[in-house]
Amino acid sequence: MTLGIVGTGALTAAVITGLKSSGNDARRVLLSPRNAEISAELAARYADVQVASDNQAVLDGSETVMLAVRPQVAREVLQVLRFQNDHHVVSLIATISREEIASLVAPAERVTKALPMPMIAHKLGATIIFPPDPDIAAFFGKLGKAIEVESEHEFNALSVVTATYATYFRYLDTIDDWLESHDVSSDTAREYIATLFKALAHAPEAAPASAFMDLAKEYATIGGINEQVLSELESQDVFKMFARSLDNVYRRVSGPWNVDV
Ligand SMILES: NC(=O)c1ccc[n+]([C@@H]2O[C@H](COP(=O)([O-])OP(=O)(O)OC[C@H]3O[C@@H](n4cnc5c(N)ncnc54)[C@H](OP(=O)(O)O)[C@@H]3O)[C@@H](O)[C@H]2O)c1
Repeated sequence: MTLGIVGTGALTAAVITGLKSSGNDARRVLLSPRNAEISAELAARYADVQVASDNQAVLDGSETVMLAVRPQVAREVLQVLRFQNDHHVVSLIATISREEIASLVAPAERVTKALPMPMIAHKLGATIIFPPDPDIAAFFGKLGKAIEVESEHEFNALSVVTATYATYFRYLDTIDDWLESHDVSSDTAREYIATLFKALAHAPEAAPASAFMDLAKEYATIGGINEQVLSELESQDVFKMFARSLDNVYRRVSGPWNVDV
C-alpha cells in the first residue's frame, strides 16, 4: 500500500515524522515535489519516502491520497488532477467541506476528512475523522488518538478547539509577565508555570467522571484565591466573551470555506 500526499508543507512533515520516526512503519510514501526543500529533506531522512515528479504522479502511484495543500489553492490544484474511483482520498484541508472535496476528486468515492495537529510529529494530540473510517482511525490512532465523528457539524465544532491554542499561551504569558514584574527571574517563572500547568493537564484524565466545571469548583476553595480570580474574571464576562469568539470561529470554519486553521 502506498500513501501519496499532495502538498508537502508543515503538516505533512509532522505526519511523516510521526509515522516514520519510530522506525516500525514500512509503508511507502510518495510526496508531491512542493515544497521542494521539505520533500527532499523527508526523502533524505526516510528510505521509504520518495518524491514524485508531479502531483499526478503522486495519484498514479498511490492507493490512499492525502490532500495537504492550503485551502486557498486547493480547488485550482485538484481541478487538474485525474483521480480513480478506487482512490481513498483523505483531506486534511480543514476548511473545505467533505462534499466539495468529493466533487473535486470524483470519481473517487471514498472521501474522508481528518484534522491532525502538528504535535502528531511526537505522537501527541488527537485527530478528528469524518466520516468514521477504520483504516484512517488506525493510521492516526498510531500517531496519538483518533476521534471519529458521525457528522460534519460535529467535526467543524471540534475543530474550533484548535483555535484556542494561542489564547492558552497568552494566558500563561500574562502570568509570566506578572511574575517578572514582581521581580521573579524569567527562568524561575517559566519553569514554575510550565511545571504546574503540565500537572494540571493530567487532572481530566485522573478524574474522568468530573466535568471541567467540577474541576474548577474543586480548585476554587470557598473564600480562597482561586475563587477570587475566577469570580473576578466571571464578573467581567471574560468567559462569555471567549464563548462568543468560539461562535465567531465556528461560523468561519462552517463556510463559506476559504480560511486557514
Ligand atoms: N499546520 C497546521 O497546524 C494544520 C492543522 C490542521 C490542518 N491543516 C491544513 O493542512 C493543510 C496544509 O497546511 P500546512 O500548515 O502544512 O501548510 P503549508 O506549510 O503552507 O503547506 C502546504 C504546502 O503545499 C504546497 N503547495 C502549494 N501549491 C502546491 C501545488 N500546486 N501542488 C502541490 N503542493 C503545493 C506548498 O509548497 P510551497 O511552499 O512550494 O508553496 C506548501 O509547502 C492546509 O489545508 C491546512 O488548513 C494545517
